[in-house]
Amino acid sequence: MSAPAGPSVATAVLDDAVRADEQDRAGGERPATPLGHRWTAPVQRRPHQHGPAEDGGPLRGAAPALTSPVPLPRTATPVLVPGLPAGAGALRDLLADAVRAAAPRELGSVRSVSGLAVDVVGLVAGVGEVLEIGPEGAGVRAEVVGVRAGVLACMPLGTADGLAAGDPVRRVARRLTARVGEGLLGRVLDGLGRPLDGRPLPAGLVEVPLDAPPPPALDRRRVSEPLPLGVRALDTLVPAGRGQRFGLFAGSGVGKSSLLSMVARGTHADVVVLALVGERGREVREFLEDDLGPEGLARSVVVVATSDEPPLVRLRAAATATAVAEHFRDQGLSVVLMMDSLTRVATAQREIGLSVGEPPATRGFPPSVFAMLPRLLERAGPGVVGSITGIYTVLVDGDDHDEPVADAARSILDGHVVLDRRLATAGHFPSIDVLGSVSRVATRVTTPQQRADATTVRRALAARRDAQDLVDVGAYVPGADPLVDAALAAAPSTRAFLTQAVDDVADVATSWAALSGLARMLDPDTTAAPAGPGAA
Ligand SMILES: Nc1ncnc2c1ncn2[C@@H]1O[C@H](COP(=O)(O)OP(=O)(O)OP(=O)(O)O)[C@@H](O)[C@H]1O
Ligand SMILES: [Mg+2]
Repeated sequence: MSAPAGPSVATAVLDDAVRADEQDRAGGERPATPLGHRWTAPVQRRPHQHGPAEDGGPLRGAAPALTSPVPLPRTATPVLVPGLPAGAGALRDLLADAVRAAAPRELGSVRSVSGLAVDVVGLVAGVGEVLEIGPEGAGVRAEVVGVRAGVLACMPLGTADGLAAGDPVRRVARRLTARVGEGLLGRVLDGLGRPLDGRPLPAGLVEVPLDAPPPPALDRRRVSEPLPLGVRALDTLVPAGRGQRFGLFAGSGVGKSSLLSMVARGTHADVVVLALVGERGREVREFLEDDLGPEGLARSVVVVATSDEPPLVRLRAAATATAVAEHFRDQGLSVVLMMDSLTRVATAQREIGLSVGEPPATRGFPPSVFAMLPRLLERAGPGVVGSITGIYTVLVDGDDHDEPVADAARSILDGHVVLDRRLATAGHFPSIDVLGSVSRVATRVTTPQQRADATTVRRALAARRDAQDLVDVGAYVPGADPLVDAALAAAPSTRAFLTQAVDDVADVATSWAALSGLARMLDPDTTAAPAGPGAA
């Protein structure tokens, strides 16, 4: 990074000057320098304001070195500035202003704005650095997302309306950061971690980069403890472990948000972090007030980037929420991080990638999407202490489960829950397709008896599904398959077990007891069944 007049240089100049001034006023002698001068002020080498430094190199690297001290004449009286009171404080302020004004600044300029991308020239910066375009302090912030010979490809973090070729551009930060901490509980933030609920951020937060690396793989604990979510069908038939990462695969309008709100209110986790990315604006308030409610919000942090936000803000919302979750995890807490939806995060990355010239490699998605997904999802999971249990919704409209984002997510995550539109249409909520859903950690977080009961129920559900067509047309002959007979007989109980009102939190012990009862109805011999692995 370039370091304009470094703080140490400025401070040294000020301190020397003030000390000398105070000694003058006290009538004391200034100490001699090793060169014999009575008082010297350091002079900095200053690079040009624009373009490369004098040596032709970029304006980056170490702070400009001090060069030879130049002897200054000793003044018998303190520095007096017309209109300013005499004294060390006035001198310090005056010099501070002078140092600030004299600090070298690099300025680039906008070369072109096309679509979402802003090309900047005359500035050297790396990918991820944050620039400001336009008037200093009131410009539009933008992040460098690509670098070509002499040109920085940038994406604005605000609207690009009004940006014009020639607008000045300056660097403002090495990377995006967010402020995180316990004081965020109950708060609603925007995609960059700024408050959206009209109240200022509390004191005591710590600043963290948005893109933290995941904990080292071998230092992470293993997923071995169950995490009750408060949803009967999930807790028993697709059980989650603390630190597991789930995909929630569903089309639009089949109950994703409702299910997430049930988990937010019912889970045994200490903290819930919710990222709402690419939602319609009106839905956010409904979700916060109706679905989540005050009790759900009290132990949650909500990060919102609606569909009208710039793609970079939507993308960064995912990182902001993850950074907030990481903070709580590192305090040793059990965190549930829910992202609705991962597909919209991937779409934001696609918009960015395509805007800066990436090829649309996989069904319209550029390679950067498939690099971003594992980087983001790996940050959830168990930590060295604490855990982040991740639940990411993935849109699979048109039942295209092989859609590239769904496919990539499925390969990274350790479990998936599928919501079925036919169940939703039939008013069966939550519309979880139990047979299509899998928890890869089920064997580690359940007892053999629990797994046996789950297997019995799944087997009956599968038999019933296979026979459904015959049943529907009245061609099924009772007695043809005892399992189907049992499933048909127990259909009302099965439905009662699998459905749950949005505001109903299921106690996990009661859920397991109910599953056990259901298993006995579906297979009278279930208690004698061997405890096989991988039941769920
Ligand atoms: N547990 C439930 N009990 C009763 N109705 C439910 C339940 N879950 C969802 N619904 C119904 O389904 C509708 C859609 O749910 P929701 O908004 O959660 O779906 P979504 O998948 O998030 O939709 P979108 O894709 O539009 O975001 C709700 O308006 C509600 O009427
Ligand atoms: Mg929704």
